[in-house]
Amino acid sequence: MKYLAVLGRQPEISIAELEMTGFCTDIDRLGGTQKLAIKIDKKPLEFLGDLPEGKITLGVSDYSKNASKKTATVEALKLKKILVRHGRSVRVVENKEAVLSTATSLHNGLSGKNERKIELIKVDNDWYRVIGVQDIDAYAKRDQARPARDAKVGMLPPKLAQILINFCGPLPKNARILDPFCGTGVVLQEALLMGYQVYGTDINEKMIEYTEKNLNWLFFERATLAPVVTGLAAQAPRWSQCSRNNQFQISQGDATSFQWDQPIDAVACEGYLGKPMSQIPSDIKLKEQKQECKSIIMGFLKNLSNQIKVDTPVTIAVPAWLRENGEYERLDIIDEIENMGYNVNNKSREGLLYHRDDQIVARDIIILRKK
Ligand SMILES: C[S@@+](CC[C@H](N)C(=O)[O-])C[C@H]1O[C@@H](n2cnc3c(N)ncnc32)[C@H](O)[C@@H]1O
Repeated sequence: MKYLAVLGRQPEISIAELEMTGFCTDIDRLGGTQKLAIKIDKKPLEFLGDLPEGKITLGVSDYSKNASKKTATVEALKLKKILVRHGRSVRVVENKEAVLSTATSLHNGLSGKNERKIELIKVDNDWYRVIGVQDIDAYAKRDQARPARDAKVGMLPPKLAQILINFCGPLPKNARILDPFCGTGVVLQEALLMGYQVYGTDINEKMIEYTEKNLNWLFFERATLAPVVTGLAAQAPRWSQCSRNNQFQISQGDATSFQWDQPIDAVACEGYLGKPMSQIPSDIKLKEQKQECKSIIMGFLKNLSNQIKVDTPVTIAVPAWLRENGEYERLDIIDEIENMGYNVNNKSREGLLYHRDDQIVARDIIILRKK
């Protein structure tokens, strides 16, 4: 089976996520992939002609080199014309560009779940059929409907939380994931939906209350919030089958000194990112922020190092700051981390910087394993 993944806005992160999950084909747990498709072994017309009786909804996305709205539309209408001539009823989803947006695919039901609602992807002479589309509505709800949110601690998008968890690599069923900077609990939420057990700590008592509120809300609302996420944790007992206490533990604690309860099978977190910023910081301010963040992050990694087993994966997002030249300034911590007993998987760290255009504080993702 030949798969095709339509990558998100930050392709390097999407590719790294696919690699780290062993090319997982479960769209609902891939934060960085917009669509998944499989190659069809017939000509597109033959494939469509073999679909079960009834009206066909057809979308075409053209990812070929010189593709345009016109090339995609021509292909779709050509297929429709022949199918109609053979007595099939067909509705073509209008192309606004060469490729259908995720929203258009999703809202026209082209997510691979309906056998007669089909999105075909053309890449030069090859054709693929979409088998999964990222459920942007489910992500938005998981992000915006949570009862306790706090702009000051930053809003980790659920997609990025999934990416951080996936960067830990395949995990055993029932794995227990620690987030020692859990804030409002987005990493914990996404890990629970993937079927893992979670353990969250944070220095701020208010954040612990927020996380508790959010995870209780998730427990009661889960059926409406997410397509049941399967994939690598498919064998893990579903959260719905377990009591809440079994599945999550939360405590207040300073990550630089806390003694966590065992077991810890993986650590995925967005570390302390410093003060929220709406403009490029002055050199003095940046120096001060770098020192503060570095001391918390390094203090945490040192404290964690002798509490986890060899080979335990640790993914941490640390801050990087936008400078006047348009580049992001990162924390210079990789050598020190290695000396603390970790192997750094993405030493060059190229590409794994997550940010919106002109966002002042980016998230710089570091993937580690305990030596
Ligand atoms: C960027 S926020 C994480 C937000 C989180 N990902 C969420 O879903 O809301 C960083 C968190 O680190 C916490 N923090 C700061 N210093 C800490 C420390 N020394 N130990 C533990 N938590 C700390 C803050 O209270 C804050 O909640």
